Amino acid sequence: MESVEKLREELLAAVEAAADLDALEQVRVSALGKKGRITDQMKGLGGLDPDQRRETGQALNALKDSVADAIDARKASMEGAALDARLAEEKIDVTLPVRPEEMGRIHPISQVIEEIVAVLGTMGFKVAEGPDVEDDWHNFTALNIPADHPARQDHDTFYLPAPDGECDEGRLVLRTHTSPVQIRTMQNGEPPFRVIVPGRTYRCDYDATHSPMFHQVEALMVDEKTHMGHLKGCLEEFLRAFFGMDDLPVRFRPSYFPFTEPSAEVDIGCSREGGELKIGRGGDWLEILGSGMVNPNVLRNCGIDPDKYQGFAFGMGVERMAMLKYGVPDLRTFYESDLRWLRHYGFASLDMPSLTGGLNR
Ligand code: DAH
Repeated sequence: MESVEKLREELLAAVEAAADLDALEQVRVSALGKKGRITDQMKGLGGLDPDQRRETGQALNALKDSVADAIDARKASMEGAALDARLAEEKIDVTLPVRPEEMGRIHPISQVIEEIVAVLGTMGFKVAEGPDVEDDWHNFTALNIPADHPARQDHDTFYLPAPDGECDEGRLVLRTHTSPVQIRTMQNGEPPFRVIVPGRTYRCDYDATHSPMFHQVEALMVDEKTHMGHLKGCLEEFLRAFFGMDDLPVRFRPSYFPFTEPSAEVDIGCSREGGELKIGRGGDWLEILGSGMVNPNVLRNCGIDPDKYQGFAFGMGVERMAMLKYGVPDLRTFYESDLRWLRHYGFASLDMPSLTGGLNR
């Protein structure tokens, strides 16, 4: 039999000498594998007399452990060194600009919706949604616009073909405003309500200032105490934050909407000097949105007791807000998918609107 001591020296030297993980594996197989040298020695134990067998057996077991430990230690140090080398080689400079240059831009409609949601979101409004294809009842009747109401004429509604050709409350329309989501919100929940509804709306109209598909944001707040003063405060705060002007003049003008009573149209200050529209102080006024106190009939239509609950609502056109804030002159360009236009009017994807980060470029 080989001398255990000599074998230990040889094997440990081989472990030390192994240059890489492959070589180390070879050393392991040659020592501890099925036909390895230590294994071989173990097999020879049967030919020894009992005393010698015990002694040599113990020595071989100890040898086996120490060689296995040496291999593990060497392996760990090789892997550590390999990782260090890789980390050094693959160093990433996180301060380098992104390559290739960022190409996509956020469409101004998306950006403005984000901005509106950011301002009203900090006031506690939550985003709600509803279907683009609505039924007549949610779009009109429940909003206090019954079948014979003249306000229906103003809506240039796209009607979907009705199976029986009749005008009834189940007839489907492309929603003409986001107000039906007020109804859905109130039907499906319990007051208090505080929601904003950004979304697509449709009217059969097309010229320089009208598009058959456009966007609105609706707001609804209902509880037991909300009054017109809250509506005024909320809208003043919202408009000043959205346009980034602390002293933006805001005016409420009596108006009429079937779903609110009283109703008010809201104007902001502007100047039109030299034919150029500028938002802010200037003695002139620009209509910006519709608002009012939710009509008790609307609350009743949603199963809410108008003697207990009251609230306000307002609605605005997103395109109009975008045109005014970012100086987009023509509504139709929003939908032309012209990349040059998008590069000019679009927003970088990391330009996230927030109240603290500011909303203005
Ligand atoms: N739904 C109205 C429209 O499309 C906008 C509007 C006006 C919404 C007054 C409201 C409101 O919630 O109170 O013209």
